[in-house]
Amino acid sequence: MKAVKNVVILGSTGSIGINTLKIIDRFPNRFKVVALTAYHNIQLLKEQIDKYAPSHVAVGSSGIDYLRNRINGQRTRVLDVTTEITQIVTLPSVDIVIIGMRGSVALEPFLVALQNGKTVAPANKEAIVVAGDLIIREAKKYNAKIIPIDSEQSAIFQCIEGRPRSELQKVYLTASGGVLQDVPRAAFDRLSVKRILQHPRWKMGKKITVDSASLMNKGFEIIEAKWLFELNIDDIEVVIHPEAIIHSMVGFKDGTILAQLGVTDMRLPIQYALTYPQRWESGLPQVNFFDLKQLTFRRPNLKKFPSLALAIYTARKGGTLPCVLNAADEEAVEAFLNKRISFSGIYKVVEKVVLKHKIKENPMLKDIQATDQWAREETKRLVFN
Ligand SMILES: NC(=O)c1ccc[n+]([C@@H]2O[C@H](COP(=O)([O-])OP(=O)(O)OC[C@H]3O[C@@H](n4cnc5c(N)ncnc54)[C@H](OP(=O)(O)O)[C@@H]3O)[C@@H](O)[C@H]2O)c1
Repeated sequence: MKAVKNVVILGSTGSIGINTLKIIDRFPNRFKVVALTAYHNIQLLKEQIDKYAPSHVAVGSSGIDYLRNRINGQRTRVLDVTTEITQIVTLPSVDIVIIGMRGSVALEPFLVALQNGKTVAPANKEAIVVAGDLIIREAKKYNAKIIPIDSEQSAIFQCIEGRPRSELQKVYLTASGGVLQDVPRAAFDRLSVKRILQHPRWKMGKKITVDSASLMNKGFEIIEAKWLFELNIDDIEVVIHPEAIIHSMVGFKDGTILAQLGVTDMRLPIQYALTYPQRWESGLPQVNFFDLKQLTFRRPNLKKFPSLALAIYTARKGGTLPCVLNAADEEAVEAFLNKRISFSGIYKVVEKVVLKHKIKENPMLKDIQATDQWAREETKRLVFN
C-alpha cells in the first residue's frame, strides 16, 4: 500500500462520510483528503474544509456562493455537485473514491471513477441496484477495483477474499430485521415516522433506515450481491439475524461456511476498504460472546414484508426493472418521511409503478436515466393524486 493514500469522499456530510473522516483522523499520516462533496449541509462542509484543506469540494448550487465567500479560494476550489462532480473523481492524484452519497445520482461519478481506473469503495447501493451490470462491465474494462463498504457486501467480499467464483455455492445475506420484526403488520401504520426511524442496531441516514424497516433494503442488497459477486438470485438466501453480529456468510462447495463477525459499527467495513488488503488497529471492540450468549436466525416473512418479495421479483426480471424499483422507492420513502403517505403506502405505490413498467433488457446509461425519470414521475403522480 502507498505510504499516503489520496481519498475522495462523495457525501462527506452524511453518516458514511462522517465515519470515513473519523477513520482518517486516526491515521493522519496515512490518508490525505483531496476532495469532499455535500449537498445541503454547507455548515458542516465548511468545517470539514477548514480542517482537511481539500483541493476541491462540490456542493448543491444554493451553497456555492456562500462557500466561495467564506473559504480560502486559493486552497480549495468549489464546484457544483450536480453538474461537476465528475471533475472531482477524475483528479489525477485520487487513489480511492468513497461513495457515501445517497441515491442513484451516485451512478455517474461511480462510472466515471471506474473509467479512470480509480478504486471505488461504494457504501451507496442505489447505483449498483440500478446499473450493476454496467458498473461491473466498466470495472472489468478499465481494470478498476470495487471494494464494497455496505456491511453485508463487505462481509461477503472478506469471506470470498480472492477465491474463484467456481468454489462458491451459496451466500447467506443476514438482516437484523429492522424495527418492525416483532410488530404485527396491522399495526405498522399506527407507528410514527420517528418510531420507524429508530433502528434497533445501526445508526444510519433516514432513507436506509426506512428501507431497513420494510426489508426493501435487504432486497436491494440481493441485487447488489448478484452483481458484485456474479451470483444467481437462487444462490442468495436472506437470513434474519436480530443480533446483527454476523454481517453475512459464504457457503463453499465443500460444505464450509465462512462468516464475518463484528460489532455493528460502519467504521469496520469503511476502514477495511481504506486499508485493504491490510488490517489496521481500529479502536473498536471485538464481539464479546459471553455477553451475547446466543446468535439466532429465522426466515424472513415475505407476507409481512412484501417489499422484499417485490425486490426479489424485480431482481429475477432484471433489465430496467430494478431501476424502477429504486427510483419509485426513493420517491415513496421521501413522501413517507414528509408524512404524505403511510408506511404501507410505500409498498403500494412502488408495486404499482413496478408492475406498470415495460422492461428494457441490457440497458445503457441513457435507458437507465430515462427509466429513472419515468419511475419518479409515475410515483409522484400516485403520491400527489
Ligand atoms: N449509513 C449507513 O450506515 C449505511 C450503511 C450501508 C449503506 N449505506 C448507503 O450509503 C449511502 C449513504 O447513506 P447515509 O446513511 O450516509 O446517508 P445520509 O446520512 O443521508 O448522507 C447522504 C449524503 O449524500 C449527500 N447527498 C444527498 N443527496 C445528494 C445529491 N442529490 N447529490 C449529491 N449529494 C447528495 C448528503 O449531503 P447533505 O447532507 O450535505 O445534504 C450526504 O452527504 C446510501 O446509499 C445508503 O444506502 C449507508
